[in-house]
Amino acid sequence: MGAVTAREFRTAGGQVVIVDRNENLAVRVANEIEVGPPVIGDVSDSAFCNRAVETALERYGRLDVLVNAAGVIVRADALNTSDEQWQRVMNVNVNGVFFMSRAAVGPMKKQGHGAIINFGSIWGSVGAAGVTAYCASKGAVHQITRAMALDHVKDGIRINAVCPGEVNTPMLASERSEPVTPELMQSLADTVPLGRLAEPVEIARVVLFLASEAASYMTGAMVNVDAGFTAR
Ligand SMILES: NC(=O)c1ccc[n+]([C@@H]2O[C@H](COP(=O)([O-])OP(=O)(O)OC[C@H]3O[C@@H](n4cnc5c(N)ncnc54)[C@H](O)[C@@H]3O)[C@@H](O)[C@H]2O)c1
Repeated sequence: MGAVTAREFRTAGGQVVIVDRNENLAVRVANEIEVGPPVIGDVSDSAFCNRAVETALERYGRLDVLVNAAGVIVRADALNTSDEQWQRVMNVNVNGVFFMSRAAVGPMKKQGHGAIINFGSIWGSVGAAGVTAYCASKGAVHQITRAMALDHVKDGIRINAVCPGEVNTPMLASERSEPVTPELMQSLADTVPLGRLAEPVEIARVVLFLASEAASYMTGAMVNVDAGFTAR
């Protein structure tokens, strides 16, 4: 979804700095959408997050939008979640969002303008079986979003979260003990009121909207893009 979001911002005329730990993927996407070299590293490292923001400022002189899309999942209940798995999910999903956002709000405050869009999840608002660490991490992302939105409401910085349901990305198929068959994908789609998975662009368009002046009165919002999943 991060890659597709970057493409949507480019199509809308924006400059983009891609940040990811997967160098091959990041370079491919940067070349495809014709932006400068990606910044490669781990968002759970706060020094790296500071460098990533500095790179954007060096390249373009300002930072208007930060999209926190990096995330990982572990599919296990508490009994089957190791210390390492718990910490990995928290380090990337929670610390990564916090470190990137903290690095970005300084320059955004100086500019008097900025927008941050965090990737929350339906699992940050409602519970799900077999994904304890992930649910906890996304609940924390929602609360980082609300708390920081209030801290910076007078600084010209709007901070919102997009909360997708089941989206057809590599993450949806990852970390599963059972084989990823068309039947499994259909069974996931059947849990959604609309009866299908989202395509990444259906989420990316909402991120673009939240970054734009069309969303000028929105801050601290959890925007569900879930085809009715949490409406029940
Ligand atoms: N796919 C879904 O159904 C779904 C639903 C709700 C929320 N989300 C959330 O949306 C966001 C994007 O998910 P996706 O489905 O596109 O996932 P994905 O696995 O396809 O992509 C995640 C990207 O994050 C990068 N990444 C992971 N850990 C990193 C780290 N430590 N430092 C830097 N980069 C790192 C990966 O290299 C990858 O490019 C995530 O936060 C995810 O939790 C996904």
